[in-house]
Amino acid sequence: MPNLTANLAGILSPNPFWLASAPPTNSGYQVMKAFETGWGGAVWKTLGIPVVNTSSRYGAINYRSSRMVGFNNIELITDRPLADNLREIEEVKKYFPDHAVVASLMVESRKEWHQIVKDVENAGADGVELNFGCPHGMCERGMGSAVGQEPAVLQTITGWVKEVATVPVIVKLTPNITDITEPAVAAAKGGADAISLINTIQSLMGVDLDRFVPYPTVDGKSTNGGYCGPAVKPIALNMVKNCAQHQGVNIPISGIGGIENWRDAVEHMLLGANNVQVCTAVMHYGFGIIREMLAGLEEYMNEKGFGQLPDFIGKAVSNVTTWENLNLKYKVIAAINADTCIGCQLCYTACEDGAHQAIALPGNGQGRVPAIIEENCVGCNLCSLVCPVENCITMVRKDDGSTHESWKDYMDSGKAPTEFNDKRAGGHGHWIPEPKAGLGG
Ligand SMILES: Cc1cc2nc3c(=O)[nH]c(=O)nc-3n(C[C@H](O)[C@H](O)[C@H](O)COP(=O)(O)O)c2cc1C
Ligand code: SF4
Ligand code: SF4
Repeated sequence: MPNLTANLAGILSPNPFWLASAPPTNSGYQVMKAFETGWGGAVWKTLGIPVVNTSSRYGAINYRSSRMVGFNNIELITDRPLADNLREIEEVKKYFPDHAVVASLMVESRKEWHQIVKDVENAGADGVELNFGCPHGMCERGMGSAVGQEPAVLQTITGWVKEVATVPVIVKLTPNITDITEPAVAAAKGGADAISLINTIQSLMGVDLDRFVPYPTVDGKSTNGGYCGPAVKPIALNMVKNCAQHQGVNIPISGIGGIENWRDAVEHMLLGANNVQVCTAVMHYGFGIIREMLAGLEEYMNEKGFGQLPDFIGKAVSNVTTWENLNLKYKVIAAINADTCIGCQLCYTACEDGAHQAIALPGNGQGRVPAIIEENCVGCNLCSLVCPVENCITMVRKDDGSTHESWKDYMDSGKAPTEFNDKRAGGHGHWIPEPKAGLGG
């Protein structure tokens, strides 16, 4: 049986699955229930001077039959008094001494930071997470993402916390910035023991077409909120990878954003996260999703022969390179499996109108399975992505693997196009119909 014990900068937990700081960690009642169900750690709902929240406060994107593919909130930090939270943290730690309880914090002055760090340490927190990510409300008051977007300020405040903290300090980053590695490096310079990312992305979820006001609506008005849930995973993965690759960061990473199942978690970890945090999926489906996550992770590790988490953490990082290093001699083309094809012809439409006119429809009386015109196919993947039948269209390798030539190599050898009508351009080689052929269809 693989060992699932996770270690984030010295904070140990029985498994890498933590609840992110959010409504599921509002109270001791919820955290106790979550730990009993199998979660390995929890980052408490951000503590500070309590706020008063709005009603309503959440919005969502539904896509076709899927609910909450993207989720958005205009909620702020905890609306409960600090003393209540501290008492409950202490109680949770008594019941679950081996689980990770991390206190998320957001205050303003150096004095307040010192005080609240000491308070949560006294309550038994295993670590603190500095919330420099909240993109609404708190940033208007000079906190949250207002700090995360100013690396120098972030570094200073991290330093204030490190002056007093005796437990590991995690800095939670905002994705609302051009280059995530700048605040990540600042966190490391400020002495942070780890970073966590991402917090939510600034967004408006849509507009009520009759009342002319975006969602979520508060008495006829709205405001930008923070976007999260499955839709943000690709953005989070890219940012986690950027931090994992950056020499100046070099501290452990807690991966957050769009994690709903064990696969999402493993993806974050393959790209460099030491553990993961989950919010929206728990708000949608409840704490019970941890059962499938634990079983799935264990099965994956068994299948791959990984005995412990470090065996695969960061394993995909070196496989992400810059575009100029990709092999331009690698060639794949699409192949349709006629036995599983249902004849919907979505692939034909996509390639014909949205790609490279490399799929032909069958003639009259020849059924409905389209055919790939191999000499036109550029191997873009589009048809395989639109095909509703799993593995019906596969991409088949056509080069023999003997040559590797990247754009960088092209540039170095003088083979790259250098003028507008250069015949060496890559798109020149494949057949394209004359414009008039587009009429009268
Ligand atoms: C309703 C709601 C409230 C949140 N409150 C906090 C908070 O108090 N502190 C914090 O650091 N992050 C907060 N977050 C952000 C989450 O911790 C997490 O970073 C984000 O939702 C991305 O993860 P997900 O895609 O799993 O939801 C909140 C998110 C939501 C949806
Ligand atoms: S999209 Fe897939 S199932 Fe539909 S016609 Fe093309 S290959 Fe067949
Ligand atoms: S891979 Fe791209 S170019 Fe080739 S058939 Fe599919 S959609 Fe057309």
